[in-house]
Amino acid sequence: MENRHSEIPSSVIGTVPKRSSVLGLGCWAFGGADWGGQNDMESIEAIKAAFETGITHFDTAQSYGRGHSEELVGRALRGVRDKVFIASKTMFTPKERVEKSVLASLKRLGTEYIDLFYIHWPRKDADLEGMMEGLVSAREKGLIKGIGVSNFSVEQMKRVSKAGKIDAHQMCYNLLWRWGEKDLIPYCRENGISVVAYCSLAQGILTGKFSSTLQFVPGDHRKSTVLFDEQVWPHVYDGVEKLKSAALSATRPLNELAIRWILSRPGLSTVLAGARNSLQVHQNVKAMDGEIDPAVFDSFTSISDTIAASIPDTGNIFRWYP
Ligand SMILES: NC(=O)c1ccc[n+]([C@@H]2O[C@H](COP(=O)([O-])OP(=O)(O)OC[C@H]3O[C@@H](n4cnc5c(N)ncnc54)[C@H](OP(=O)(O)O)[C@@H]3O)[C@@H](O)[C@H]2O)c1
Repeated sequence: MENRHSEIPSSVIGTVPKRSSVLGLGCWAFGGADWGGQNDMESIEAIKAAFETGITHFDTAQSYGRGHSEELVGRALRGVRDKVFIASKTMFTPKERVEKSVLASLKRLGTEYIDLFYIHWPRKDADLEGMMEGLVSAREKGLIKGIGVSNFSVEQMKRVSKAGKIDAHQMCYNLLWRWGEKDLIPYCRENGISVVAYCSLAQGILTGKFSSTLQFVPGDHRKSTVLFDEQVWPHVYDGVEKLKSAALSATRPLNELAIRWILSRPGLSTVLAGARNSLQVHQNVKAMDGEIDPAVFDSFTSISDTIAASIPDTGNIFRWYP
């Protein structure tokens, strides 16, 4: 397997030594669960296609199919480990069990170290500082190279920072969901914390493929997210139609502009786009081609200002509060 495309720029994430492509492959759907099923061969082809087209950042988690996504990432990238940046995550884990949890991820990924390991979600009233201490110890042992948090508030970041340096905050950020601009992104910028955007395509919405009437296969978690809520979806749909017209005028597909718009925003270092197959990977990686007129981003921002204001701040799009 060869990485033929060297045109995707790379960035540094926090204090992690290895650079990684600014467009990363989101590997949640490869877990199968939560997305109404997924074919393993298609997942492996998608991961290999991503590497071959120049993506070096792969984002997985223990909870994506209970480790299945980690296993597939490990299998697909065997032989090119030194050329890729692997990020994984774990849910809240007490300090004394953190190392065991990291070792379990290492085993599934078939690697000796993980480049960036996140606390996936904060848990209310849990000892997050203690978990951070466990991660700092794993970093000192070389099991992980960097520490991230995800879905944290500023107050929670301040708390864990007392126990160790946060390298990255992974948060939902896209043309429809911009609540991070309020205080999270400014805090990260002031404190040397890289911002990694997830759901860059708003889980497929920003490809423009959904019709006004929604249909999901059983087991697809998307039907219960706030963006597809029956009160909210009509606003989202109308806004996406406007974005589609703007994309047509700019003669670039909406998915490409949605990804590039994120990278044009202040303080964003990496954007994660998920995919179900190699075709979607190829469509998304094309986002990195060529220059885009800043006026296009301005018109997207102004449409986004209106749509984003019609989406309630539910804390997170999943309305999940562990
Ligand atoms: N830290 C966290 O709590 C958290 C939360 C969410 C995500 N993440 C990470 O961020 C990554 C990205 O988020 P995400 O996967 O939820 O959402 P996303 O990247 O916004 O959308 C991915 C989904 O959109 C559809 N899609 C992608 N490219 C397409 C294309 N070119 N044409 C048509 N459809 C396309 C695919 O689903 P269908 O084909 O089935 O429509 C795909 O699974 C995840 O994979 C995960 O690594 C982290």
